[in-house]
Amino acid sequence: MCGIVAYVGKGHCKDFILEGLTRLEYRGYDSAGFACINSEHKRFSYVKTVGLVSALKESVNKALIDGHVGIGHTRWATHGIANQENAHPHFNCSKSVSIVHNGIIESHEELREKLINSGHDFYSTTDTEVIAHLFGSLLKIHHTLKNAVLDLVSQAAGAYALALLMEDYPDQLIAVRRRSPLVIGIGEGENFIASDVLAFWDKTNKVFFIPDNSFAIINKDSVQCYDFAGNSVPIKIQDVDFKFANTDKQGFEHYMLKEIYEQKKAIDNTISFCRFIGSKDVCLKHIFDPNNKRKECKSNIDSIEYSEEIWQQLGLEIEQLKNLKQINLIAAGTSWHACRIIQFFIETICKIPVHVFLSSEFRYMPFFPKVDTVFIFISQSGETADTLEALRLVNSYNLPTIVVTNVVSSTMVREAGGFLPMQAGPEISVASTKAFSCQISILYWLAHRIALFRGLISLDQMRVAEDDLLVTAEVLESSIETYKWEISQTLAKFYAKFERFIFLGRHISYPFAMEAALKLKEISYIFAQCYPAGELKHGPIALIDKRTPIIMFSVLDDLIYQKLVANAQEVKARNGHLVSFAFEGQNELIKLSDCSFIIPRVKPLLAPLAMTGLMQFFIYQITKELGRPIDKPRNLAKSVTVE
Ligand code: M6R
Repeated sequence: MCGIVAYVGKGHCKDFILEGLTRLEYRGYDSAGFACINSEHKRFSYVKTVGLVSALKESVNKALIDGHVGIGHTRWATHGIANQENAHPHFNCSKSVSIVHNGIIESHEELREKLINSGHDFYSTTDTEVIAHLFGSLLKIHHTLKNAVLDLVSQAAGAYALALLMEDYPDQLIAVRRRSPLVIGIGEGENFIASDVLAFWDKTNKVFFIPDNSFAIINKDSVQCYDFAGNSVPIKIQDVDFKFANTDKQGFEHYMLKEIYEQKKAIDNTISFCRFIGSKDVCLKHIFDPNNKRKECKSNIDSIEYSEEIWQQLGLEIEQLKNLKQINLIAAGTSWHACRIIQFFIETICKIPVHVFLSSEFRYMPFFPKVDTVFIFISQSGETADTLEALRLVNSYNLPTIVVTNVVSSTMVREAGGFLPMQAGPEISVASTKAFSCQISILYWLAHRIALFRGLISLDQMRVAEDDLLVTAEVLESSIETYKWEISQTLAKFYAKFERFIFLGRHISYPFAMEAALKLKEISYIFAQCYPAGELKHGPIALIDKRTPIIMFSVLDDLIYQKLVANAQEVKARNGHLVSFAFEGQNELIKLSDCSFIIPRVKPLLAPLAMTGLMQFFIYQITKELGRPIDKPRNLAKSVTVE
């Protein structure tokens, strides 16, 4: 959601910034822009376009503009529609200051009024433009950039990341961070700024994560950083391992399809990684250690001895773990669906009650801080604003917080008490696929690891659980292969004609059905509604007709399965069209279905994981039939960094 890329250095900025914006496209945007201090006349040159970065590239290349310092942006509209006027960069009246911005300036209305009253003209409806005008005025009042920024941040309320370019300071850039991610890549004779390290991964692996509530003044050879009180902040440079940075489609038509197929490998990697961090000879710092000892440790996997150091990685004291009476899971979107599935794991395996919260709701509910609890935040990106704010809220009560994420360089990792990184590799498609299956897998592993610690399972059962995950990952992939042809040749065409779907699940397959409905809605734009199958007769049954296919996801628990069969009968008795995702041997359900996908049996708690690949593939193919922009659905952003 919005992306910032900026450059100052010995080289030219245009190509780097445009390439960086292309790499941040996955975050979601609807317009883009570029500005630089033109090497020829030393004044600003800029281009803004509505739509894709490729259109911006074309216009910038046509305009033949470039310089040694520049800023670029992809905008996801919040304040004002997606048009050229509202696209970033924005300028002050005299066009001496140019700015790109992620986040929201909450005080923009009162600031705008003040600025208009003192004679400023505005060209857009954005909150961002206010900052350009305000900063231009502050530069006239204050003698140093530092003081002007301090004044600016004292007036600008909200959560934001800013990159500022000034004609009167043509060798410098300013980067400001307040509750929105911003990183600096340190090069030789050049420095890079971006909202995600992906933008400069091939330029440098030396990264400075600007701390929250701080800003940096950057030129080609130096970076000075200050907090919002004006104190100097030491520049702690981290070596980031960019082994994850391959973002090619590798021959697949869409990232989503590539990522669906990467799931088995991603789960395998995640489980080997868990075994590794849970083992005795672990180097806990390896994540930022380019010479990490992972390979050496991996060779010992078969004779693994689980170490209690895993709890240190999670920021937990042994005593806390022993006394744990409740686990809270907090997340948004697909990650929240994963939490609802994970609840079954923890309650069944660890016998610890679990509360699951939607992060956007949690923040505004009454909060009763309790000891003997732990809060686990699950987020693919580690940047989702609502989840991050929920984390900050819990941190403020000094309760144990753990983040499970795919992005180790994310803000949540830096702010949580501990973290568990998944090894899914970059997920580019807006629709979450492999992150979802890795979230489920890693928490299945952790639930067993907690149970092992509490003496509820044996070492052998722990190893069996790991093997069960690997077997299920195999089923996830092989089921796609079994139905690939039939789905892509006939079924997708048939189901793409329907205008609405109902999804049903029960017990552990209910949150999975919610996830399936979300996938269909977000990428195909087909209306989908999900219900717990047992609720059908309490109202939704009135919706059953031939024009609304019912997609039902089975379970492997015999008792619940029988209940689902009864629900399937209710559907068929009303002439509903039933599609089932069933398991081998579930003949009653299969016979009742107009179309069924039959999946090999796995451990009952892993039933959703086994169905994941096929469900995603089915929805992907329906969407492809409709010709939708699968990887970048309308109105959506990959990283939802505004509330
Ligand atoms: O990065 P996060 O896991 O925190 O993101 C949460 C949701 O925004 C995300 O899962 C969203 O629902 C996906 N687009 C679903 O495919």
